[in-house]
Amino acid sequence: MLYENLGINDQGHLTVGGLDTVQLAEEFGAPLYVLDEDRLRANCQTYVQSMAAWMPADSMPLFAGKALCFKGLYPVLKEEGMGADVVSPGEIYTALAGGFPAEKLYFHGNNKTDEDIAYALDSGVGCFIVDNHQELAALNRAAGVRGIRQRVLLRVTPGIDPHTLQAINTGRIDCQFGVPIETGQAARFAAAALTMEHLEIEGFHSHIGSQIFEAEPFCEAVDILLDFAASLRQEYGFVARTLNLGGGFGVRYQACDPVVDIPGTIRALADHLTRGCQDKDYPLPRILLEPGRSIVADAGLTLYRVGGVKTIEGYRSYVTVNGGMTDNPRYALYQSPYTVLPASRMMDTPDFDCTLAGRCCESGDLIQENISLPRPERDDLVAVLTTGAYNFTMASNYNRLCRPALVMIRQGNARLAVRRQTFEDLIACDL
Ligand code: LLP
Repeated sequence: MLYENLGINDQGHLTVGGLDTVQLAEEFGAPLYVLDEDRLRANCQTYVQSMAAWMPADSMPLFAGKALCFKGLYPVLKEEGMGADVVSPGEIYTALAGGFPAEKLYFHGNNKTDEDIAYALDSGVGCFIVDNHQELAALNRAAGVRGIRQRVLLRVTPGIDPHTLQAINTGRIDCQFGVPIETGQAARFAAAALTMEHLEIEGFHSHIGSQIFEAEPFCEAVDILLDFAASLRQEYGFVARTLNLGGGFGVRYQACDPVVDIPGTIRALADHLTRGCQDKDYPLPRILLEPGRSIVADAGLTLYRVGGVKTIEGYRSYVTVNGGMTDNPRYALYQSPYTVLPASRMMDTPDFDCTLAGRCCESGDLIQENISLPRPERDDLVAVLTTGAYNFTMASNYNRLCRPALVMIRQGNARLAVRRQTFEDLIACDL
């Protein structure tokens, strides 16, 4: 099995967190998002404890809500000592509705409108991650009107491609997020920020990418950020108290994917930072990380019922399920690999090669190609693993399909955390 929270019971059913997936689908319906809260909490603890052990004081992981966001998640994050990265007023609203402390929210986004800024300031969001000059000016104005000094990090792009390890990669500099260091623009951005009366510049933020399996790209980012910080200190006497290195730690979608040693990576990163600061005689900044995928992906799976089985003679066989790109658009968008299991027939031989297709009116609506299942029958239950990240949050109502329910499992008990949409929900905004 891909993860140790999965098992097979004597009826040949897949279990998750000790619970029978066939029973879960009977009780809560399918498609169904299942989230193993115990595993999610353990993933949080890996970050919280490793950062407390190795990184400078006050370092903290911020959960990136873009990966998963619903009200009931935030009490869990709060209990586990996480901060949170939010990217929209909707995410802020959800976090606050879940009782999450506003001061532990870090507000991202490359186009925060004046309304967004006002909402976040009035909600008491702890820190803004400012993306561009226009936002800097707008935030300074809005903070001034309220008579406050808002804590801020500046988003800069170090120009690293985490998958080629090239230090300077124009592809990475050329993006709509943040301000590039390499071109000299980030220095001018920081200089402008330091003149803003109502902003307290705490440091810098960079996010180098996704599905990163080693420490090296993060270390490269630290080197570039420290060089940048040191040159600013020389020019303006400004010292960064915080470096936010973004998210991007990889997860295993398939057995062939490597396991990321998160504590080892955090320790390596901390050692690298300490050495870098010593070399430059720079005061050790606290570190923020923004893991999304690596907190929730492997805590989630999706259950579907099989509908049809169709063999296109001379080509391939399609197995259709009662969900699809509406609850998981990641194969359609990125050809993302997934592990698919025959949840109701785990003991049967998987000798039927097929493509798992969704039910949407779109030929690209595939969940996975080139998989093998026991020859499926209508109403068989199929599980797609590692769907905890970027599935629920990227879902849509295409074809007016109702979004699935989400069930959380804790210590052998299942509870509904998000109910399934109804037809009434579908027309709730229609006038
Ligand atoms: N921080 C920032 C500024 C980010 O842009 C992201 C992800 C994260 C943190 C979290 O990264 P993670 O630890 O989850 O890799 N929809 C795509 C993923 C887009 C990620 C965008 N930014 C997918 O389904 O793979």
